[in-house]
Amino acid sequence: MLNIIIFGAPGSGKGTQSENLITRYNLAHISTGDVLRAEIKNGTELGKLAEEYISKGQLVPDDVVIGMLANVLDSKKDKAGVIFDGFPRTIAQGEALEKILKERGEEISIVINLDVEEPELIDRLIKRGQQSGRSDDNLETIKSRLDVYKNQTSPLKDHYMNSGKLATIKGVGTIDQIFDLIAEAVDKVK
Ligand code: AP5
Repeated sequence: MLNIIIFGAPGSGKGTQSENLITRYNLAHISTGDVLRAEIKNGTELGKLAEEYISKGQLVPDDVVIGMLANVLDSKKDKAGVIFDGFPRTIAQGEALEKILKERGEEISIVINLDVEEPELIDRLIKRGQQSGRSDDNLETIKSRLDVYKNQTSPLKDHYMNSGKLATIKGVGTIDQIFDLIAEAVDKVK
C-alpha cells in the first residue's frame, strides 16, 4: 500500500496536489478539513463542534479527529493506498495514525512537505476566500491558522525527518511543475 501524507501550511497546495496524486497513483483521499466541512454543512453534532474551532482557526480536538479518521479509513479499502491531507496535525495525531496503520500491517510510505513562504500563503488564501467564500479564509483567521501550524503542526516535520520519511518540496511555481517534483519523490518509494 502506498500511504502518503501531504504536509504543509494552510495554502501550501495540499488539496491541489492531492487531486493529481489520486489520479496518478489510484489512491483514496482523506482530507480531514473536507470531512469536517461536510459535517458542518449537514448540521451534525460533530459539525457544530468543529465549527467552533474552525471559525477561530484552531485545531479540532485530537480525540474527535482521530475517532473520525478510523471510520473514514474503513470506507477506503479498495484503493492502492491513501493520501492523508491535513492529517496528522499534532504529534498525538501522528502517533495515532502510525498505530492505526500498524494494526493493518501498513506504514507511512512518504511525507511530502510543501514549503511555501508566509506572504505567498496569505495571498493565496485571501484570493481563495474572495472567490469561494470559505469562511476561514479571512486575514484574522488565516493568521491564527498559520500560528497553529507553526506551534502545533510543524514539530511533526522533525519526527518524519528522523524516520527518513520526509521529502521537502518547494511549493511555488506552476501546479504541474510542483507535481513533477512530488511524483519523482513518490516513485522512489513506490
Ligand atoms: P484544512 O481544510 O485542512 O485547511 P488548511 O490546512 O488550512 O489547508 P487549505 O485547504 O487552506 O490549503 P491547502 O494546503 O490544501 O492548499 P490548497 O491546495 O487548497 O483545515 C481547515 C480547518 O479544519 C483547520 O484550521 C482546523 O480547524 C480543522 N482541521 C482540519 N484537519 C484537522 C486535523 N487533522 N486536526 C484538527 N483540526 C483539523 O491551495 C490553496 C489556494 O492556493 C487555492 O486557491 C489554490 O488554487 C491555490 N494554489 C495551489 N497551488 C498553487 C500554486 N502552485 N500557485 C498558486 N496558487 C496555488
